[in-house]
Amino acid sequence: MKTLLLPIRSGEADENHPAIARAAEIIQRGGLVAMPTETVYGLAANALDPAAVERVFAAKLRPSWDPLIVHIASREMLSLVASEVPQKIEHLSERFWPGPLTLLLRRSAKIPAIVTAGRPNVAVRMPAHPVAQSLIRAAGVPLAAPSANLFGRTSPTSAEHVLHDLDGRIDAVLDAGGTDVGVESTVLDALRDPPLLLRPGGVTREQLEAVLGLVEIYRPPYDQPPEALASPGLAARHYAPQAKLVLVDGNEAAFLEELRVRVQYARDTGEYIGAMTPEGWLTPELIEGGGLVLYDWGPWEQWEVLAQRLFAGLRYLDKPGVAVIVCPLPKPEGMGLALHDRLMKAAK
Ligand code: TXA
Ligand code: MG
Repeated sequence: MKTLLLPIRSGEADENHPAIARAAEIIQRGGLVAMPTETVYGLAANALDPAAVERVFAAKLRPSWDPLIVHIASREMLSLVASEVPQKIEHLSERFWPGPLTLLLRRSAKIPAIVTAGRPNVAVRMPAHPVAQSLIRAAGVPLAAPSANLFGRTSPTSAEHVLHDLDGRIDAVLDAGGTDVGVESTVLDALRDPPLLLRPGGVTREQLEAVLGLVEIYRPPYDQPPEALASPGLAARHYAPQAKLVLVDGNEAAFLEELRVRVQYARDTGEYIGAMTPEGWLTPELIEGGGLVLYDWGPWEQWEVLAQRLFAGLRYLDKPGVAVIVCPLPKPEGMGLALHDRLMKAAK
């Protein structure tokens, strides 16, 4: 299959834009389109068409136990995909949608079982990206869309990342450049009391707690098959580069010490060490000796900036010859919690 590249500027996105019209037509006949959202690129299919959703699993090599998020663009679509909307969820959606928050709801009979991996709840979000919104409206159906990467790999924050993983496996990519948030949406089960944060992401725990009071963080139990978990995708090694990812304490001294030791060894073996480098953290003496591949990650503790650049950095460093990527671990506060989570899973 040839994958069609459909360039579009975010500011020009509306239902009549030729790229959107083309993409919508592909969706309507059961095809797959990668679309930008404000978090990461998603691989979209008509959520009401089980054969189309089946193709999403096949293209990504995603196991059938891992359910998909359904993307909507209006309140009407919410009542189509959910059988009921409790008031607490209504309230959350008013506060955070459109935006990077995914909420669990009771699945309606319209949503095929394959979308939710047979579970009674469906994960729903209303993306803020104008291209995603226009595509949903033009297609006229909710879109099931996981991140547009091969299963287990780093999520894509650009059309190039999507093509790297999925060129020839999907019908088209809407290319609107890099994404804003850079990590995936927060997944919240607010049907439970207290609400359970299944995946930290673009909406922070602190923002949720300001509305909900206490929010618990999900810790997947060990030794359980994915089918038995509250959110099956979250336990597996994930978001992972092919090089070995080594996490160090989030301070300059620990980072430099780890690099010094590793780079000496790498120089002897002719390999390279990749470094996710916070602004100003490298000494010239370390750079001059060779053996390092650097990615300028951004100002330490500015978690939003670091989140936007995380996956691009991991993909950039993950090239032939790079055996190990060294990365300082952010604090689990604000958006740092999502970074902490992704890096811990990638380093498993
Ligand atoms: O930002 C995002 O959420 C992106 C964009 C494209 O919207 N999507 C995304 O989808 O990251 P995906 O499939 O890569 O991650 C969805 C996560 C998975 O870990 C999955 O297990 C969980 O959400 N999930 C989906 N449906 C669920 C359900 N019904 N119950 C529990 N967890 C669910
Ligand atoms: Mg994913």
